[in-house]
Amino acid sequence: MRDILPPESGRWRQFTGVFADVVERAGYGQLMTPLLEDLGVFTRIGDATDVVTKEMYDFVDKGERHIALRPEMTASVCRAFAEQRPTTPWKVFYSGSNFRYEKPQRGRYRQFDQVGIEVLGADDPNLDVEVIALAWEFYARLGLRQVTLIVNSLGEPDDRARYVEALLAHFTAAGAALSEQSRATLERNPLRVLDSKREIDQPLIAAAPQIADFYSDEAAAHFESVLAGLRSLDIEFAVEPKLVRGLDYYRRTIFEFQGGTLDSAQNALGGGGRYDGLVEALGGPATPGVGFALGVDRTLLACDDEGVFPAEPVQLDVFVVDVTGGLEAVTITSELRAAGFAADRGYDNRSMKAQMKLANRSGARIALIVGDDELAAGTVVVKPMHGEGDQVAVDRSEILTHLASLSDQNRTNHE
Ligand code: HAM
Repeated sequence: MRDILPPESGRWRQFTGVFADVVERAGYGQLMTPLLEDLGVFTRIGDATDVVTKEMYDFVDKGERHIALRPEMTASVCRAFAEQRPTTPWKVFYSGSNFRYEKPQRGRYRQFDQVGIEVLGADDPNLDVEVIALAWEFYARLGLRQVTLIVNSLGEPDDRARYVEALLAHFTAAGAALSEQSRATLERNPLRVLDSKREIDQPLIAAAPQIADFYSDEAAAHFESVLAGLRSLDIEFAVEPKLVRGLDYYRRTIFEFQGGTLDSAQNALGGGGRYDGLVEALGGPATPGVGFALGVDRTLLACDDEGVFPAEPVQLDVFVVDVTGGLEAVTITSELRAAGFAADRGYDNRSMKAQMKLANRSGARIALIVGDDELAAGTVVVKPMHGEGDQVAVDRSEILTHLASLSDQNRTNHE
């Protein structure tokens, strides 16, 4: 788990701000759910996934309730829907921390953040297209260029079940030709064997049955509509028949966004899909759902690698240097901040030299200096820090008007 320090933390806030801007324009409202849920909320994600069986931070609280820190947010959204029963389609977005007991490495952390959207109560393939298009737009807003989209469909639940059976038969017949780890995976979740990166498994995976051969007409038509919609928006994608995703709740459309710069194990920047049975599993009415979550930590690493969306420290307008005890700086910074200027100051009544050094380092455009002479005369010295004009003494009551005129001058100089 990591500490996020300024100015990097400011970038996180901006990141969620841009995300909210993109999705709020599309009718999504923010949903805030608790960090903790009853364990059962998450076990219904699927008891065959590592996220649930191996990686959950679960414990018994003082009231003997078995609870867990959320490993993702889709289950919480569906739980909230089942309890609140809002009108549909319910379009929500979220952002926040999740917890998975994984082996930490670059791009993989035990506490990580996601932003995401979910839509409950509509089956329309155009909604799958909208959801994918919004993630696409968001990546464009960040400036990322090396993101690729892969899509697949897992078919209807029956299609998926028949496919899983066929996979089980195929891989079981392979016997010891399959790696030991994949044989263990096969027992728990045959679909996930397709995810194996082990060399020895690759020929068997290549020869495995294809999900597309198991689609019902309905599932095939739904998927075709999604692909047609993506084409109509000129969103580039590749259909990847081996894409299965790590959570059990998916039905029909699934998709993943991959970055171009991270290690292949961590290159999934985000993913999502349809999960038409999840609300029901959580005690609500049968309700279709679709959405995605994007990993904040990983996406920012991809931004670093591509040199886009840099952290930008807050630009200070004014730094107040007061060598008369510090009380002048108290009132001046307060007035400046109230008037909308970004203002900081030196503390501990340090020497003029020391405070000027701080003013320089702060990046402020202007230093306001109060020495004994200024205090006696009721003035301050206004010193442009970036060579824009000479320093002048200004009456204490004229500071705001003077700074405003400097800003105007600055603007016209740049025009
Ligand atoms: P997920 O694929 O498990 O899907 O996670 C989505 C994204 O969260 C990943 O692509 C990755 O960027 C980030 N992520 C996951 N685990 C970690 C980790 N340990 N460290 C850093 N980043 C991580 C879901 O969570 C689904 N709820 C997505 C969804 C929404 N499906 C439908 N609606």
